[in-house]
Amino acid sequence: MSDLSVLKERGLAELQACADESALRAWHTKYFGKQGEVTVALKKVGEVAPAERRAYGQEANRIKESFTEAYQAALASRKDQEINRSLAVDKIDVTLPGRPARRGRLHVATQMLRVICAIFSDLGFQIYRSREVEDDATNFELLNMPQDHPARDMWDTFYTTTPGVLLRTHTSPGQIHVMREFCPEPIRVILPGMCYRYEAITTRSEIMFQQVEGLAVGTKVTMADLKGTIVAFARRLFGDDREIRIRSSYFPFTEPSIEVDVDCIVCSGKGCSLCKRSGWLEIMGAGMVHPAVLKNGGYDPHRFTGFAFGMGPQRITMLKYGMDDIRQFWANDIRFLRQF
Ligand code: PHE
Repeated sequence: MSDLSVLKERGLAELQACADESALRAWHTKYFGKQGEVTVALKKVGEVAPAERRAYGQEANRIKESFTEAYQAALASRKDQEINRSLAVDKIDVTLPGRPARRGRLHVATQMLRVICAIFSDLGFQIYRSREVEDDATNFELLNMPQDHPARDMWDTFYTTTPGVLLRTHTSPGQIHVMREFCPEPIRVILPGMCYRYEAITTRSEIMFQQVEGLAVGTKVTMADLKGTIVAFARRLFGDDREIRIRSSYFPFTEPSIEVDVDCIVCSGKGCSLCKRSGWLEIMGAGMVHPAVLKNGGYDPHRFTGFAFGMGPQRITMLKYGMDDIRQFWANDIRFLRQF
C-alpha cells in the first residue's frame, strides 16, 4: 500500500511537469504501457496477501482512474493551448484594407478609334469594317491606279505569295466594297481599320497603322459638305476654336484632291515645335470621289457625286499628346500604355 501511495504522488507530479503533447504521451507509456507502472501494479493484485488484497486492488484501480482522468484533462488543455496559440500568432486582421487589383484599360489606339467613331456617328455616318487582305484590283486598279501607274509608288506594298493578293495599304479599297453593297442608295460611312506598308520603321513611320476612311455619296454631295464635315469633326476632337486649312493635293481616286490642316492645337497658329513653326498640323487627305471610282462602285457619275477622306488615328493621337515616336503604339511597353 505504501508503494501505491508513492506511485500516486510521483505519477501526478510527473504529469504536471509535462511540457508538451509528446511528453504527455511518453508519460502515458511509462504508466500505462505493457510494462507501465500502473499496469504492473494492477497485475500484482494476485500476489498480495489475501488480507490486504481487497484494499490494494481498490486503491490500484482508483489510481488507474485518477491517472486516466488527469491524463485526458492534461491532453485536452494542451490542445486548447495549441489552438489559442495559433489563433494569436496567425491572427487575421479583417480591418486591413484589401490590395487593389490593377484596373485594365483599352489600348490608346482603341480609345482614339472609339472617339473618332463616336464623333462620326453623331454626324450620321455608319461604321463599316472592310478586309485587311485585299486584291490588287480593289486596293489599286478600281481606285483609278492601273498596273504601272506611277502613283502606286505612294504606297509601298506587302504582297502575299498568292499573285494579286496583298495587305491593303490604305482603307480606300473599302470605298469600292461599300459602294457595290449600297448602290444605288446614298452612302455616309466611315471605315476604320489596320493598314500595312512595306516601309522602314522609324519614329515617324510604321509598317502597320490604322486609318479611318470616310465616304459620302449622293446626288447633291459637294465640296462644301466635305469641308463642313471636316470642320465639325476637327472641332469636336480638338476644341471649339479650331480652324482648318485646305491645300490642293493629288490622289488618283479623288478629283479635286486636298490635304487638310488644323491650326496648331498647342500654339493656335503662332508657331511652336509641334507644328514646326508653321502654325498648322496636317490631319488628313481627302477630295471628291473621282468619277471613274464612282463608276467602279456602280454609281452613274453624271448623277452622283461623293466625297472621301482618310486620316491616321496614330498621327492624330501623336498630335494630341505631343508624342514623338509612332513605334510606341505597337511596342507593348506597359509603361507607355498605362499613361492613357
Ligand atoms: N488613301 C489615302 C492615303 O492612304 C488617303 C485618302 C483617302 C485620300 C480618301 C483621299 C481620299 O494616303
